[in-house]
This record gives sequence, structure tokens and C-alpha cells, in this order.
Amino acid sequence: MSISLSVKGLIAGYGKKRVVDGIDLEVPAGSITLLLGHNGAGKTTFVRSLFGLMQPDAGTVLLGAQEITGRSPARNVADGFAFVPQGHGVFRTLSVEDNLELGGFAEHDRSQLPSRRERVFSMFPILAERRAQLAGTMSGGQQQMLAIGIALMHAPRFLVLDEPSIGLAPNLVDKVMQSVAEINRTMGTTILIVEQNVKASLPIAHHAAVFKTGRKIYDGDPAPLSDHQKLMEMF
Ligand SMILES: Nc1ncnc2c1ncn2[C@@H]1O[C@H](COP(=O)(O)OP(=O)(O)O)[C@@H](O)[C@H]1O
Ligand SMILES: [Mg+2]
Repeated sequence: MSISLSVKGLIAGYGKKRVVDGIDLEVPAGSITLLLGHNGAGKTTFVRSLFGLMQPDAGTVLLGAQEITGRSPARNVADGFAFVPQGHGVFRTLSVEDNLELGGFAEHDRSQLPSRRERVFSMFPILAERRAQLAGTMSGGQQQMLAIGIALMHAPRFLVLDEPSIGLAPNLVDKVMQSVAEINRTMGTTILIVEQNVKASLPIAHHAAVFKTGRKIYDGDPAPLSDHQKLMEMF
């Protein structure tokens, strides 16, 4: 049951500072859409505005056919829109298991949670091994896997990941990318992934967009972006 996301004319910023300057973006149902761009391009502001962590100044956001502009994160989560923030959204003083339990907070049908937790454990066996460990004492890579696991406790139809590979060792970057591809393939989850690691993320992407200082400067096939020279010229 895949779902699309459609953004039109999104404007967002901080006070008078406009950092997302009228962006349209279509994330097709069932796709992995990659969002690239330099530090400060407005990627985090854009995805936080989609999820309701900040209010856009203008524009509309549709999840499937439903308008969700400015709606609260809790409502979005309950509707199958999950968000993994930049810098691992885990509860550091809670165990892995308790993090996953809390991850399912908005699920009305509690009977679903044990099987979802087992799916997270089979995707990330290290989390099963460390189920009683406090999240804050785990490595960055393990915390990132847990952050993705928390998001999966709602069986989201639409998932946003903001730079999940940042600060991870190369082998873990690949593991995270493979997991993202697996979630998309096996659960049908539509995914919008923000990345700076072009090399690792391009191979799993079906579509790609590039932001530069609050505007979209590319949207389409990811393949041409593997030409490093072209991408640098664009940036
Ligand atoms: N809380 C904030 N208050 C003021 N300016 C901010 C805040 N967060 C980000 N910015 C600024 O907004 C711009 C876009 O930032 P961000 O959306 O984080 O970009 P990206 O995720 O692409 O690196 C940058 O110039 C950044 O300094
Ligand atoms: Mg960012």
C-alpha cells in the first residue's frame, strides 16, 4: 500500500530569513527519492516543514490525496508518515527495547507491535543482541539503525530519513543504504532520503532532486548525477 507525497510552492525559513524558496517536489508512490545538496541548502528545513516540525510560510503538502500542510508530527505518524531526524532520533537513557516500544506510541492496534519489533530485529540483528543496552551507550551506527527501527514500529507508508549516513563508517553506510532499499522493496514504503553521500545513496534511488540555496536545481533520473564532474558543476 504505497503512497505518494506532493509538495507545491513550499516556502519556509527562520524569521525573515527564507531558506526554502518555493519548492515543488513529487515523490512517487513506492519510490526511493533522493534529495541532495550542500550543507545549508535547506534540505533539513524542507523535510522538517513537511513533517510538521516547523510551519511553512506558504505552499501545500499532500500525502496521497490528503492535504497535510502544517499538521502535527503526531497526526502524521498516526497516518503512516514517519521521520528519522538528522543525528539519530533515539532516547539515549532508554534501552533498545524501550526505544522500540515508545516508537509504537501512536499505534492503536497494540497487537501489531511484537511482530514489528521482530522485523526490526531481523533487519538489524545487532539490535536484538543489544536489546537491553541503553541506546546512548551504543555506537553511532547502532543508534542510526535503532532510529530507523523506531520509525518502522508504525509500519509507515511514507518515510523521510535526514542524512542517515552522516558520521558512519563506510561499511555501516552501505548497511544503512541496503536497509533503506529493503524497507522500500519488502514493505512498499515510499521513501524520501536526504543525503550528502552521493556515491552510497545514488544506487538505491529511483528519482533524485538537488537543492541549492533553497531552490531545486535538478529533478529526475538519478543516473546523470553519478557523473561527478557534472554534479560538482551543478552544486
Ligand atoms: N534554527 C535555525 N535558525 C536560524 N537559521 C537556521 C536554523 N536552522 C537552519 N538555519 C539556516 O537555514 C539554512 C538551511 O539550513 P538547513 O535546512 O539545515 O540546510 P541543510 O539541511 O541542507 O544543510 C542555513 O543557512 C542554516 O544556517
Ligand atoms: Mg540538514
